[in-house]
Amino acid sequence: MEKYVIHGGQPLHGRVEISGAKNAAVAIIPAALMVRGVCRLENLPQISDVDTQLRILTYMGAKVKMINPSTMELDCTNVQIDNLPEEMWELTRRIRASYYLIGAMLGRFGEAYSTMPGGCNFGVRPIDQHVKGLTALGAEVDVSGGFINARAKTGRLKGTTIYLDKVSVGATVNIMIAAATAEGRTVIENVAREPHIVDLANFLNSMGADVRGAGTDVIKIRGVKHLHGGTYALIPDQIEAGTYMAAVAACGGSVQVANVIPKHLECISSKLREMNVQVEEGDDFVLVSREGMLRHTNVKTMPYPGFPTDMQPQICAVLCCAPGVSVVTEGVWDSRYKYVAELKKMGAQIQVEDQAAFIQGVGHLTGATVKACDLRAGAAVVVAGLAAHGVTKVEDIFYIERGYENLVGKLQALGADIRCIDEPETPSARGPVRWAVI
Ligand code: EPU
Repeated sequence: MEKYVIHGGQPLHGRVEISGAKNAAVAIIPAALMVRGVCRLENLPQISDVDTQLRILTYMGAKVKMINPSTMELDCTNVQIDNLPEEMWELTRRIRASYYLIGAMLGRFGEAYSTMPGGCNFGVRPIDQHVKGLTALGAEVDVSGGFINARAKTGRLKGTTIYLDKVSVGATVNIMIAAATAEGRTVIENVAREPHIVDLANFLNSMGADVRGAGTDVIKIRGVKHLHGGTYALIPDQIEAGTYMAAVAACGGSVQVANVIPKHLECISSKLREMNVQVEEGDDFVLVSREGMLRHTNVKTMPYPGFPTDMQPQICAVLCCAPGVSVVTEGVWDSRYKYVAELKKMGAQIQVEDQAAFIQGVGHLTGATVKACDLRAGAAVVVAGLAAHGVTKVEDIFYIERGYENLVGKLQALGADIRCIDEPETPSARGPVRWAVI
């Protein structure tokens, strides 16, 4: 079993280049299913979730040509959705973003089916807002037996006004994709405003769609008959950047976090400044440094432009080292504190009550053997291990590799003592392999 071994306690120095955004990639790749022609996608992250999405599309007949590790040409001209093999459904069950296939298939073929996206890591993850939106566009949607089946009643979806009862990234993405080729005008109100929503809109527009208002809470889409090929470069990953910023906050040192959009990081930068971390913005980088003691603070996660839930575990790991009491409140997911048990193995003092984590900062954490419970939980234990005294072993790193490109190499270049080793596992110590839903 592969695991990370970290000898913690070193400050980080140097420059780290941030990869393309995972959550943009996993929306844009299925959206490319709508395109008759070649989409050249640049700045793609090399992560296993992207591989999984591409393998799914390949089963449907898409042609994938890698130009270099982060640039790809994806041709979905001849995709089809009949008699898709069981191997493909095994992949759609692994990742959350596979449900974007529903919006894309409906838009392209007027009918769609896929599996429900697997088990669940942080509480109930309903899809009622996806179903509400697609139904309003004129689809009959049936969710049963672990599958989602949908069919446009008149063969083609029809634009309408949809109000989302809950701000949802996934529902916003699915409805945007489906509405891009619907007949007439669609207005989606109370939508998510995350950077990857804007990125998806920009991608769709560069392929011939007419999507306006992304980044505000109302998106207006005039449906077009077909999308055509083109070239699109993805935005950098806000959360990957935030994770390196958190690592510098926890370890001290000075790092240029490069190839970022500093505006996307403001919610993270301003929290770190409250914690006595210096963050200076350049045009496409932030310089993060810490010399003095960390200061405790309170954090509440919210949809963008609030503090991202996907940074909640990493910021908790940093706050474990800040003297005083910090309160972190989770405002998006019902249950995102499973990793707290892992941090406690490293000496963290955290009490979770409902959606709040009360953190009593300790002088320093101590290395231990811990597990990545999900993608960001895995990032949090790596951040904790980098700052801790002694040796930390991180197990179940496949979760981390779903969303972080070359984490070990990038951290080593900053002076961290982290290695990936392959150690035989003791069967009695482990249960069955689980797949994360991210
Ligand atoms: N919700 C509903 N009904 C729905 C959809 C969502 O009630 O139909 C609720 C959820 O239960 C949750 C809230 O709305 O309480 C927000 O869920 P959202 O739909 O925004 O989340 P998602 O689309 O499933 C994406 C990211 C997550 C990130 C969330 C929130 C992808 C593939 N995943 O999930 O990213 O936490 O938005 O920002 O884009 C990660 O990258 O580690 C990750 C988990």
